[in-house]
Amino acid sequence: MKFSLNDFLIAVSFALDFMEKDRLGMQSNHGKRTAYLTVCIARRMNLSEEEIYDAAALSILHDNGLSESSLYEELPGEWDHAVNRFEGSRGHCMIGEKNIKDYPFLTKPQDVILYHHERYDGNGYFGLEGDDIPLISQIIAAADSFENYFKFADGDYSHGEVLKWLSICQAGMVCPRLAKVLQQMVEDQSVWANLSNDRIEQALDEVVPSFEMEVPLDKIRQVTGVFSRIVDCKSSFTRRHSKGLAEKAARMAEYYNKDQAETTRLIIAADLHDLGKLAVPNSILDVPRALTPEEFETVKKHVYYTRVALEKIKGFEDITEWAANHHEKLNGRGYPFGKTGAELDFNSRMMGCLDVYQALTEDRPYRTGMPHSQAVKVLSDMADSGFVDSGITKDIDQAFSSV
Ligand SMILES: [Fe+2]
Ligand SMILES: [Fe+2]
Ligand SMILES: [Fe+2]
Ligand SMILES: [Fe+2]
Repeated sequence: MKFSLNDFLIAVSFALDFMEKDRLGMQSNHGKRTAYLTVCIARRMNLSEEEIYDAAALSILHDNGLSESSLYEELPGEWDHAVNRFEGSRGHCMIGEKNIKDYPFLTKPQDVILYHHERYDGNGYFGLEGDDIPLISQIIAAADSFENYFKFADGDYSHGEVLKWLSICQAGMVCPRLAKVLQQMVEDQSVWANLSNDRIEQALDEVVPSFEMEVPLDKIRQVTGVFSRIVDCKSSFTRRHSKGLAEKAARMAEYYNKDQAETTRLIIAADLHDLGKLAVPNSILDVPRALTPEEFETVKKHVYYTRVALEKIKGFEDITEWAANHHEKLNGRGYPFGKTGAELDFNSRMMGCLDVYQALTEDRPYRTGMPHSQAVKVLSDMADSGFVDSGITKDIDQAFSSV
């Protein structure tokens, strides 16, 4: 299908940005602002539009490994903890690079995310030096450190401070050519005016080049699979949730003899169904008790965030419905809209049933998952009370009875 990686990434970037804000205390819109600065720098360095397109994508994604690196930190013995302490170490660079290696870029960029914390003078995490560091990595490093250094979100910084930061860059962080471009850019007021929270999204949209390409669905699935992992890693409570849902959606698609295209679109919907959870604070997602009514109201918003992000992506119209309707119920007692059965197509109903089945059967830190028969009993009771589709519940029983 026709697909623009950057349209997709801009749509879902709020989720990555919120995760960094929540977990690391970064200012809001960190990835978007880093991407905007990256594009401004890259254009001044006369990179081609294709290179700028890829630079924008990579800068939105530059910290995509953070969610998973925080998970690895919780796994004793399976990960070298010395290389993994959030932004302050190289774990997130390695995971981030691995995640995006099959993404549909235009210029085959190599190791850009891996080396986004290198310094020109060799004082980075991997000790790479000078022009051995990919140019786009250097640009992202400059944009990222700029973003980290100042409070652009609320405009609380001065021109003098920016100049001071520039001298740090010139002292060995970036190559001389890049330092010169930064010097020119510091004097361009329009760049700084666009960095505030109320401008940045629109500004990013305006500067990023647009390329729509024919991308096979399975390649798009490689993009969304990374976001599925990022969502699953956000909370240790739901470590396999999106992955498990995607596997079950694939199994049901097979059961119903759906064609390859519809099957992949269902898997993509499963990958992204809880994307909005990245915008829910861990202080709420990780409480090992029943949620208070206020906390539950916050959690409920995640499906709305999923919808708002996905409906911006051209060609994702059906995927948006199947992903964002998973907490709606046939009797109108679901959320966020209280839709009724008449408003829920077959695949939305199926995702709703499967989401319940997946949640019941997966282990959580505070309980083990239910066996198939018990989970189906819960689903059947829900079907009898008008919450979920009874036919699909029976089919789920059949399809998974031998598991
Ligand atoms: Fe980073
Ligand atoms: Fe960063
Ligand atoms: Fe959900
Ligand atoms: Fe879910």
